[in-house]
Amino acid sequence: MSAMNSAMNKAMNKAMNIANARNFMHEWVANPALRHHMETVAACMGAYADIVAPTERERWMLAGLMHDLDWERHPTQAEHPRVGVAFLRDHGVDDEVLHAIMAHAPYTGTLRDTAMARHLFAVDELAGFIVACAKVRPDGLATLEPASVRKKLKNVAFAAAVSREDIATGIAELGVGEDEHIARCINAIRAI
Ligand SMILES: [Fe+2]
Repeated sequence: MSAMNSAMNKAMNKAMNIANARNFMHEWVANPALRHHMETVAACMGAYADIVAPTERERWMLAGLMHDLDWERHPTQAEHPRVGVAFLRDHGVDDEVLHAIMAHAPYTGTLRDTAMARHLFAVDELAGFIVACAKVRPDGLATLEPASVRKKLKNVAFAAAVSREDIATGIAELGVGEDEHIARCINAIRAI
């Protein structure tokens, strides 16, 4: 039986591509802003995969595209992202992607002990913050620079729900420069 399950999972895993993941995401998430958030996180993950894990690009993007799959229906810490992860496991998504999704929520206690997990955590809050910055600019993302994002990060009243601590922790864990990280994410989001 378990051999059969494993074979089925492998077959489904093959089928889990960006298009399928997007369909699931649209099934679970009605809010356009949350859909957009997951697209932006997927774009940032793709940009980092190009540098860190080029052959893994699609899986890194899948982690981004599905990390808040259950947020709209199951926003409590008891359920998010466990419910989404259980669903994705049943649909053949592999353990590394599931692990990264679990680890993006620090309260799950899941360690960010893979590159994919560290990058997902590092781009999640920042992607949301960049979108918030773009919203208050007449030309949106077009001329947004890292320095302007940094300035807004220091303004605690702006997009107050975004954790500055998580952003700083994410950057430290990647070992990248703050401006480099912000610029990479701006460019990735701009591209979509
Ligand atoms: Fe998120």
